[in-house]
Amino acid sequence: MIDVTATVLDNRRQYQDYWRLRVRVPAAYDVQAGQFAMLRVHGQLEPILRRAMVYYRIWPRPTGLDAEFIYRVIGRGTTQLSLARQGDHVDVLGPLGRGFSIDPQVTTGTPVALVSGGIGIPAVYLLAEKLIARGARPILFHGDRTSDVEHGLVCVGDFVDLLGPDAVICATEDGSLGQRGFVTVPLEAELRRGSFRPAAIYACGPEPMMKRVAHLAQEFAVPAYVSLEAAMACGFGVCIACAQRVRRDGEEQYVRVCVEGPVFRADEVIWA
Ligand SMILES: Cc1cc2nc3c(=O)[nH]c(=O)nc-3n(C[C@H](O)[C@H](O)[C@H](O)COP(=O)(O)OP(=O)(O)OC[C@H]3O[C@@H](n4cnc5c(N)ncnc54)[C@H](O)[C@@H]3O)c2cc1C
Ligand code: FES
Repeated sequence: MIDVTATVLDNRRQYQDYWRLRVRVPAAYDVQAGQFAMLRVHGQLEPILRRAMVYYRIWPRPTGLDAEFIYRVIGRGTTQLSLARQGDHVDVLGPLGRGFSIDPQVTTGTPVALVSGGIGIPAVYLLAEKLIARGARPILFHGDRTSDVEHGLVCVGDFVDLLGPDAVICATEDGSLGQRGFVTVPLEAELRRGSFRPAAIYACGPEPMMKRVAHLAQEFAVPAYVSLEAAMACGFGVCIACAQRVRRDGEEQYVRVCVEGPVFRADEVIWA
């Protein structure tokens, strides 16, 4: 975990309330897929707490790395972030948490399902890259409430470039792009068809979506992992703001999403 002041290379609205921030980090470190950073505009006193953002894409450089974050403006912290301009500075504390690990059963040629909802999509891009490097065949199931007339769904173009158009299945609740309804519907349809047997499912999105993914994974006996979003204050284990109930070794216990997660086995999470 390193705390650095990064320089904003680019920060622009994609559409609606989705933004894309690229920063130059003056420190070299490895980022595991699914790990996150705590961000704050440098010098801003309000809000005092940083905001958690998953690393979307990274480009190692000789003296550090460039990192890209996709964020949705919802409140004070993300509004402040959206005001940063090229050349401004952002405090980046990271990499934090335990990301996605790839099971040994994921081998060359095996299909793997990535399931994302809304702003959950950035959590699975580095994972998709890693799976491809492993020779696996990731398929993205992505859903959102609605699509943008001009731009479609956030980040989906990047995934199409990486995985190919046939490996990206979209759903929108209003039917404006892809299948109408929740993204778990096409996932379930593929699993029931029987021809699609993923070696694993990795998911990030709204809690009801991940809960449904956990049930489907159990029904079809597929190992599944979910990246949980919890309200965080410190991001590195000291404030206990992010406690999550899990069942491990037959016992219920609380874990910290920021340290023991954000990625958990879907079958150990006790859903609200
Ligand atoms: C590990 C992790 C990775 C994340 N990665 C991303 C990412 O890549 N992109 C992105 O856009 N967001 C991400 N988030 C969520 C992001 O941290 C919150 O959206 C952000 O903190 C909101 O800050 P704000 O000041 O704009 O809103 P606030 O003013 O803090 O909150 C506005 C409203 O949203 C609610 N809220 C705030 N944070 C959360 C939360 N984490 N879960 C549920 N409700 C919340 C508050 O209760 C409040 O009602 C991630 C969260 C975690 C835990
Ligand atoms: S956010 Fe402080 S312990 Fe997790």
